[in-house]
Amino acid sequence: MSDKLDRLEERLDKARMRIKRSEDRQVIESVFDTKTLLMLYQMFNKQILEEVNGVISTGKEANVYWAVQPDGTDVAVKIYRIATFNFKRITLYLEGDPRFSRIPRARSGLITAWASKEFKNLQRAHNAGVRVPQPIHVQRNLLVMEFIGEDGLPAPTMHQQKPEKPEQARTTILKAVSTLYHDAHLVHADLSEYNIMLWDGPVLIDMSQAVVLDHPHSEMFFERDLRNILSYFERFDIPYLDLDETIAAIRGGAYK
Ligand SMILES: Nc1ncnc2c1ncn2[C@@H]1O[C@H](COP(=O)(O)OP(=O)(O)OP(=O)(O)O)[C@@H](O)[C@H]1O
Ligand SMILES: [Mg+2]
Repeated sequence: MSDKLDRLEERLDKARMRIKRSEDRQVIESVFDTKTLLMLYQMFNKQILEEVNGVISTGKEANVYWAVQPDGTDVAVKIYRIATFNFKRITLYLEGDPRFSRIPRARSGLITAWASKEFKNLQRAHNAGVRVPQPIHVQRNLLVMEFIGEDGLPAPTMHQQKPEKPEQARTTILKAVSTLYHDAHLVHADLSEYNIMLWDGPVLIDMSQAVVLDHPHSEMFFERDLRNILSYFERFDIPYLDLDETIAAIRGGAYK
């Protein structure tokens, strides 16, 4: 038994060594629980990751890190934190999705389902040709994806920086919503300037809560997404778009 524990400690230490952080070990312990460290250890061993560098974002439910692959490629690693997870909220999005007909009851099972949902949604969107970070790997509560930005510096979100050509950006986003709807059969369900990055045009991110069209609330989410986008663009001096007309136009295939 103590042999086993020694081996576990050794693995945890190896994983910790590849997490570059300026803070002390106590901080690492509070963010990377034992299971998360073990997942990272496995990803280092499988050569999916070489090193975890700085933290990009600390959100309510997930942290996003800049990491590097053995060949030097930058990637983003989103780590869902079990301790702060809002389980009530996510059940609304998991229920009604035929891909997750059996909703796990254990908290860790739910988080695994949630991370895998984001991976699948990104994959579907990417395959349909929508600009999203390309998903690379998912394991338990960790999601590895394409890094949007350069040299470890993430691209700005549309909340942080206004698009240079707002009318063009709005059209690109409406086309992306349309492609998601008609080709990927998905609704983002949390679309706003906070979940769109600007990197040579808009890139949609944060797709864990995206739902399939069969979901009982998909139409409501679809309308809410479009309301958020149209109201964001009202601050610019560009032609006004009516919400109901835009919803009808996208449903009717006018933005394909
Ligand atoms: N693929 C990526 N490449 C670079 N940066 C990313 C990537 N994905 C996310 N980020 C950065 O991390 C932030 C949070 O990501 P995301 O929206 O997916 O997580 P979240 O759970 O919504 O976090 P929050 O609770 O802060 O909203 C983004 O605003 C962006 O700055
Ligand atoms: Mg977000």
